[in-house]
Amino acid sequence: MDILQLIKNEPKTIPAYYRQMSQEQLEQKIREIKGVFGNKLFIPGHHYQRDEVIQFADVSGDSLQLAQIAAKNRDAQYIVFCGVHFMAETADILTKDHQTVILPDMRAGCSMADMADIEQTERAWEHLQRLYADSILPLTYVNSTAAIKAFVGKNGGATVTSSNAEKMVKWALSLKERILFLPDQHLGRNTAFKLGIKLEEMAVWDPHEEQLLFEGDDIKKVKVILWKGHCSVHENFTVENISEVRHKEPTMKVIVHPECQHEVVRLADESGSTNYIIKTIEKAEKGSSWAIGTEMNLVNRLIKQHPDKKIISLNPHMCPCLTMNRIDLPHLAWALDAIKNDQPHNVIHIDDDTASKAKLALSRMLERT
Ligand code: 13P
Ligand code: SF4
Repeated sequence: MDILQLIKNEPKTIPAYYRQMSQEQLEQKIREIKGVFGNKLFIPGHHYQRDEVIQFADVSGDSLQLAQIAAKNRDAQYIVFCGVHFMAETADILTKDHQTVILPDMRAGCSMADMADIEQTERAWEHLQRLYADSILPLTYVNSTAAIKAFVGKNGGATVTSSNAEKMVKWALSLKERILFLPDQHLGRNTAFKLGIKLEEMAVWDPHEEQLLFEGDDIKKVKVILWKGHCSVHENFTVENISEVRHKEPTMKVIVHPECQHEVVRLADESGSTNYIIKTIEKAEKGSSWAIGTEMNLVNRLIKQHPDKKIISLNPHMCPCLTMNRIDLPHLAWALDAIKNDQPHNVIHIDDDTASKAKLALSRMLERT
């Protein structure tokens, strides 16, 4: 990237003015601008966003739902994505040229997506091709950069989300003998295990050591190659947390997201995507009690929405996802003001070549879910 481009892409810093406004003033401003733009402005919000932001979302959903909605929306000129960077990239890839996608705070990244960069992925692929020849299909969790999605699309693979990972892994293994699963080793391991693949048939690619970590006897038996990445939020739920809940509240059910470590998922009563967790709590009997292993903004919202059930976080010391939390009312108001002034900033734009290849990977997933 040249220096001019670097300067152009430099994230803007929010003016102090927005930080000095009261919550009421910010809410008033956001409401007004939303009213003026009507359906020309669309605000999707991921379930992990703060309540103060979710109240303004035109739709809230998990990664899959938000990708599906972005792919269908043709009315909005501006899509102000309340989520993290890779989600806004996906929205840009799936929308049309007349639509502008904005991320209210460019610092809202995802530490998991940052754990696989394209250079590392290309080097890993070369190594694995030497080892396994043309017998691998790449799959990437949507929590990855557009460049990784493009790499996967170019090589015949697809994206997955936590809602459709089983279906997509099954599909991939019907086409090739083995898969490379980026960048979340836990979602990859938990999904493959659910499908009956043994742990001995899985290996881990370490992108820093550039080697395949494998404890079995025959490397040719490997069916699933897991990228050594993880979610820094979901990794904080532990086996000890589950033992503590079982000890203190023996009738409490434990439900966790499949980004949690394999041992945690195995000990939990239930596991599933963000949407699955929400639906399970909605359907649960009055008076039932739940320890939830997922992001804290969502857990707190579920606690408020279901006063008839006892709900706690599986880890009592959990914090919200710090990067999701960077989208707040001041940043949303700032983004909308810029649109009103016809000077949108923090625009997410994926170059055409990357976008068309990444779209292949996303479309293969959307066609199957
Ligand atoms: P889902 O929305 O697919 O459940 O993913 C959770 C997540 O970590 C999003 O960043
Ligand atoms: Fe990334 Fe985990 Fe935060 Fe989701 S919860 S945005 S995977 S760090």
